[in-house]
Amino acid sequence: MKLAILSRNAKLYSTRRLAEAAREQNHSLRVLDPLRCYMRIASDGFQMHYKGKTMAGYHAVIPRIGASVTRYGSAVLRQLELMDVYTPNPSDAILRARDKLRSHQMLAAQGIGLPVTVFGDNPDDTTDLLSMLGPPPHVIKLNEGTQGAGVMLTEKLSASRSVIEALRGLYAQFVVQEFIEEAKGADLRCFVIGNRVVAAMKRVAPRGDFRSNLHRGGKARGAKATVAEQEVAIRAARVLGLGVAGVDLIRAKRGPLVLEVNASPGLEGIEDASGVDVAGEIIAYVNERYRRRAAKRAVASRRG
Ligand SMILES: Nc1ncnc2c1ncn2[C@@H]1O[C@H](COP(=O)(O)OP(=O)(O)OP(=O)(O)O)[C@@H](O)[C@H]1O
Ligand SMILES: [Mg+2]
Repeated sequence: MKLAILSRNAKLYSTRRLAEAAREQNHSLRVLDPLRCYMRIASDGFQMHYKGKTMAGYHAVIPRIGASVTRYGSAVLRQLELMDVYTPNPSDAILRARDKLRSHQMLAAQGIGLPVTVFGDNPDDTTDLLSMLGPPPHVIKLNEGTQGAGVMLTEKLSASRSVIEALRGLYAQFVVQEFIEEAKGADLRCFVIGNRVVAAMKRVAPRGDFRSNLHRGGKARGAKATVAEQEVAIRAARVLGLGVAGVDLIRAKRGPLVLEVNASPGLEGIEDASGVDVAGEIIAYVNERYRRRAAKRAVASRRG
């Protein structure tokens, strides 16, 4: 299989590991910077060039598109899809996953558990908005926050109100959630490939914090997801249309709740914590799906 990885930096751990795994499984692979891919869009055919040369003949592409290049990166990926290149994570699925409100709505509509979440626009509605959520503690999250940086816990209604007021003053987008206290500052990252959770790790918050992000001093270790947790993680990835996803769950009394579905989950933490060759699993999955699709097409074209 002739494989491309869309990644800004070939030296990143995840990109390096995928390249290594592809070579081990005897595929040819190139790392392409999505910002150096440019394209011709016309009704007589799609074309893509990379650093002055035609890009053609790729069978599959693995997108590793960071949040900062979501828009351009997903346009490049869409062009490759239109040029019949297989991807485990289509551009539309990546855009759905990146939009937290949209993905929460889609997951909840399918009955997947989430912390109850509210959002609103007008300051006049804040009191009623918070009453729709229920009593504090509340978790307030900036939409563009990541690595735990934009996540706040408010213990009193007055605190929720004043934080919301301050954020509105800064024109920040945010959601407010019920606080799942019994999670005790831990979350569970499930690495989903196709219809399997291939690896999982538990991240535990440092003392005195409720956020388990490794960038906030959280600690990771390998963990086993229960059957119920695996099912939720696999369904969440499927609802959003992702073949490869990092699904973050918290363990609540009423069952596993989805916090986030990541379309470009990192490999370093999870491979270290679980000891699983996640990169190898991804390459094997992409190869299998690509071959299955090619076989189906061959049958369809013989039937004419
Ligand atoms: N509703 C909640 N109740 C209890 N703990 C929560 C809740 N939401 C988040 N947390 C804790 O805070 C951490 C950070 O929250 P979250 O993952 O939603 O934001 P983020 O990591 O900043 O953004 P993202 O994961 O979307 O990039 C979680 O890993 C979890 O430990
Ligand atoms: Mg997170």
